[in-house]
Amino acid sequence: MTKEQNTNSRNSLLLKTMAGEQTKRPPFWFMRQAGRVLPSYRLLKEKYSLWHMMNTPDIGADVTLLPVNDLGVDAAILFSDILMVPYAMGMGFEFTENGPVFSSPLAGSTDPIAQLNPDPSKLRFVYNIIDKVIEAKPSSIPLIGFCGAPLTVMCYMIQGLGKKADFPEAIRFMYENRSLTGEIIEIVTDVSIEYVRGQIKHGIDVFQLFDTHAGLVPFDLYNELFMPSIKRISRVVRDNNIPFIYFPKGMGMGIKTVTPDICDYLSIDWQTPMEMARKAVHKEIGLQGNLDPRILYASRKEIAARLEKYIAFGKSNRDWIFNLGHGFIKDTPYDNAKFMANWIRSAHWNR
Ligand code: CP3
Repeated sequence: MTKEQNTNSRNSLLLKTMAGEQTKRPPFWFMRQAGRVLPSYRLLKEKYSLWHMMNTPDIGADVTLLPVNDLGVDAAILFSDILMVPYAMGMGFEFTENGPVFSSPLAGSTDPIAQLNPDPSKLRFVYNIIDKVIEAKPSSIPLIGFCGAPLTVMCYMIQGLGKKADFPEAIRFMYENRSLTGEIIEIVTDVSIEYVRGQIKHGIDVFQLFDTHAGLVPFDLYNELFMPSIKRISRVVRDNNIPFIYFPKGMGMGIKTVTPDICDYLSIDWQTPMEMARKAVHKEIGLQGNLDPRILYASRKEIAARLEKYIAFGKSNRDWIFNLGHGFIKDTPYDNAKFMANWIRSAHWNR
C-alpha cells in the first residue's frame, strides 16, 4: 500500500501543516495520548496486561485509535513502547507499577556487548498492529510511528529501572565506559533503523523520535556521542519521504544548533517558552509543543488562561503542531484533557 492510499493528506490537518499549507487552526495530538488518561483505556487495562495489549493486533489497534474517538485528536500514535528495541536485542523486562524493570541490566554485566543479541524480526508483532490500524482508521487521520533515541533507550538498558529519573547509574556507566558506550550506541541505532524501516514499510505517515532524557548529559557530549545516531535515524525516515519530528527533552540552548538536515519539526519541552524557541530554532524547522501537562491539574479557568496564550503564537506561526511539552501524566483528570482538546478545536485562531 502506498502512503497516499493510507492517509488522504488533503484531508489531514497534520499532513497539510507539515507540507507547509495554510490551515485554519493548528493540528493537535498529545504525547502519551493512547495510554494513561482515557477511561476507555483504563477499562481495558483492568482486563489485560500491557504486554498482552501490545502483542494483540486487534487490541493494540483499538487502543491506538481510542484518542481519535474520545479526544478528537488530529493524529494517532502507535500503541507500543520505546523499550521494544531492547526487547529485540534479547533484553527481558517487565512493566511494573514502578515502571519497566529489566532482568539483567547492562551495568551489572561483565560483557554487555555479548549480552546483546539483536534480532529485529522479533518486532514483527508491532507491524501487525500497524496493519490493523491502517485498515481501521479514518483516511483523514495519519498514523505516527516512533522509537526512542539511543540515549533514552540506553538509560533503561543500562540501569534497568527508572527508579531515579536522572538515571545516575546509567550516566556513570557512560562516563566510565566511553568506548563501550559508543559500541552500544551503534548496536541500538542499527536495530532502531531496522525498526523504523519496518514501521515505514507497513505504512506510518509521520515519525517521532523520543529523546526524553536528552537533558541528562551536557550538550557538547550529546552532540559528539549521540547526534550522529540521531542523524542516521533521521536520514532513513526522510529518505522515505516521511516527516520527522524530534523531541530532545531538556536540551536547552542546544536547540539553537539543530539544523534542517536533522528534522522537519522540533518538539519543544515545557521548560522553553514557544516564542523563545521560535527565535532560537532554525526558521526552516517547524515546531511542536508545548503545554505543561501538569497545568491539567489546575482549574478550568487556569487551563483556559494558559491555552489563551497560544492564540498569538498560533496566529503568526503556521508551521506549528499543538502538543504537550511532555506526555500526559497518569492521573490527569480526563475531563480536563477533554476540555483542552475541545478548546483547541473550537478556539478562534484568527487565521
Ligand atoms: O500514547 C501512547 O501512550 C502511545 C504509546 C507509548 C507508550 N510509551 C505506551 C506505554 C509511547 C509513545 C511511549 C513512549 C515512552 N515509553 C517513552 C517516551 C515518552 C515519555 O513519556 O517520556 C518512555 C521514556 C517510555 C518508557 C516507559 N514505558 C516507562 C518509563 C513506562 C512506565 C511508566 C510510564 O511512563 O507510564 C512505560 C510503560 C508504558 N508505556 C505504559 C504505556 C501505555 C504503561 C503505563 C500506562 O498504562 O499508562
